[in-house]
Amino acid sequence: MAAIDIVLGVESSCDETGVALYSGRRGLLAHALHSQVALHAEYGGVVPELASRDHVRRLVPLVRRVLDDAGLSLAAVEGVAYTAGPGLMGALLTGAALARSLALGLGVPAVAVHHMEGHLLAPLLETPAPDFPFLALLVSGGHTMLVAVEGLGRYRVLGESIDDAVGEAFDKTAKLLGLGYPGGPALAALAEQGDSGRFHFPRPMTDRPGLDFSFSGLKTHALTVFRRAADGLSGPALDRLRADVARAFEEAVVDTLVIKCRRAVRESGLPRLVVAGGVAANRRLRARLDQAMAAEGVQVFYPRPAFCTDNGAMIAHAGWHRLAAGERSGLALGVKARWRLDELKPPGWSGSQSG
Ligand code: KG4
Ligand code: ZN
Repeated sequence: MAAIDIVLGVESSCDETGVALYSGRRGLLAHALHSQVALHAEYGGVVPELASRDHVRRLVPLVRRVLDDAGLSLAAVEGVAYTAGPGLMGALLTGAALARSLALGLGVPAVAVHHMEGHLLAPLLETPAPDFPFLALLVSGGHTMLVAVEGLGRYRVLGESIDDAVGEAFDKTAKLLGLGYPGGPALAALAEQGDSGRFHFPRPMTDRPGLDFSFSGLKTHALTVFRRAADGLSGPALDRLRADVARAFEEAVVDTLVIKCRRAVRESGLPRLVVAGGVAANRRLRARLDQAMAAEGVQVFYPRPAFCTDNGAMIAHAGWHRLAAGERSGLALGVKARWRLDELKPPGWSGSQSG
């Protein structure tokens, strides 16, 4: 079997259409993204049917664009990777159908990629890249997980959210403060102007052992505090209150994540921490984690902010790793709305090994 070098990656699991070309020899060759934020903004959240239709419109032009940017023709593509889940079923199907058809037409192999594995491996696109093994904190709109990563496909989930994901909590809290969709970045920006001493929010589940998280209570707490203090306020005083609540919320979330990461590195003894997913773009989280992990002697790795949120590069890259190791997905699209990260196996796993 000839070694695979150039892989086309397609991401369409939610509200971003991402396409990229990754080369095992030369690294990332090109990537392009279309965000659907403007399309969904008036509805205050992602409308699945609109998302699917927009992916259909954007996918082929984005494939053309990355090929142009890389100065390559379709004939140069040696493998195709696509996000097969978890995500919105209709949205996943659009990318999967395109990727599968392209692979079939070109006579090259295709591989179904787990969206969270894409996020988890994204820091490997940067220099310096982390070596295995490492601890991973995955924080996105749909997931919050601490994962012990021993190698490609060797993932042990140490803790996860029992209710809302961190990104989801950011988005819901932003919405109740009137910040619109998607709220995470807007809430983070507003928190910068807030007074950190005015409110102190709880740090959920940090007073008991374990590595699970819970964020839905924090959102309710923010709403209660905001409603109580907003009574009779308007103008600049109300704006100030919004910023102070945003600040207290963000500090509570960041502190909670830092406490659990510290606990996880101490319990696992893993020497490196990788942070990925949309919320990994959060500046306060990065600053606090850097500080806390330096004290533990643990090196922290992040993707560049553009590769924290959904993108095609992470799928092309994760897909290249699996294709280069000999993995091939069958002809079925294999799309799954729900798919646990720890169901993944290393490439070439025959079912007879343990772990
Ligand atoms: O990984 P991602 O793009 O999509 C999912 O796989 O879910 O993550 C999106 C999430 C959203 O909830 C968004 O509000 C959040 O990441 N997010 C942020 C920031 N940037 C994106 N949350 C806090 N601070 C940010 N700077
Ligand atoms: Zn994502």
